[in-house]
Amino acid sequence: MKEKNNHISQNGSIGVFDSGVGGLTVLREIARALPNEDCVYLGDTARLPYGNKSRDTVTKFALKNSSFLVSLGIKFLVIACNTAASAGLDAVKESFDVPTTGVIKPEARRAATATRNGKVGVIGTRSTIASGAYELAIHQHDSGITVHSRPCPLFVPLAEEGWFEEDVTRLVAERYLMDLINEGIDTLVLGCTHYPLLKKVITETVGRDVALVDSAVPIAREVKDTLKSMGMLRDVNRRRRLTYYVTDDPKIFTQVGESFLGFPLDDVRHVDIAV
Ligand code: DGL
Repeated sequence: MKEKNNHISQNGSIGVFDSGVGGLTVLREIARALPNEDCVYLGDTARLPYGNKSRDTVTKFALKNSSFLVSLGIKFLVIACNTAASAGLDAVKESFDVPTTGVIKPEARRAATATRNGKVGVIGTRSTIASGAYELAIHQHDSGITVHSRPCPLFVPLAEEGWFEEDVTRLVAERYLMDLINEGIDTLVLGCTHYPLLKKVITETVGRDVALVDSAVPIAREVKDTLKSMGMLRDVNRRRRLTYYVTDDPKIFTQVGESFLGFPLDDVRHVDIAV
């Protein structure tokens, strides 16, 4: 049974959730693409990381997070966490009336059009890679593409630590990415919220000829196009609000988040979401 939301209004916010701070890279692009829209972000920091957890557990978290955002009267829901999108997008769509999208499909579409030699690499958390969601989504566009996948779990703590260009990050990148390079990929999907922060080291490791695809720009475009086609874009020129909620201590989120976003995060609020 769907949770009805009879109050979807043009003036509602765009709701975005992630397991933690990583989804702020997605929020930043959505905020850039849609400068008049209010956005509300939820970081489920109490239950982070999602990347090593089972599909059922992550789906349960995704449903709870969505329920909270829907209760705020959002008009559109974005699952910015690749792990949560790969596990829980269908369950969320079945459970709520609010139009919903996740980071996997727009990114897969972009990768399928970017590759010239038909060899695409995908990196993500263990859970995302185990789900096979990217292979499925890429093959929906072109079943002839060969997809080489690799979990890169250590990239998340390295990014959270702010070690974007340290030697240790280079060593880890070489170890993780060598097999993909040897497979001759010409396109690499950064299938995790945190990986765009390590873009410099990843590019140096795989070489400039390999196109890197991340989710932020493609999903921001999808949100904009969908709201436009639904006639749900807010057309007033007014100061918009960005609101942040976290399920654990707001202080840590603010510190790490500011290094992700590069601008101050005002007004981060704590919320208890019982699972
Ligand atoms: N947000 C997660 C993802 O994009 C990475 C962090 C985590 O494991 O929770 O897959």
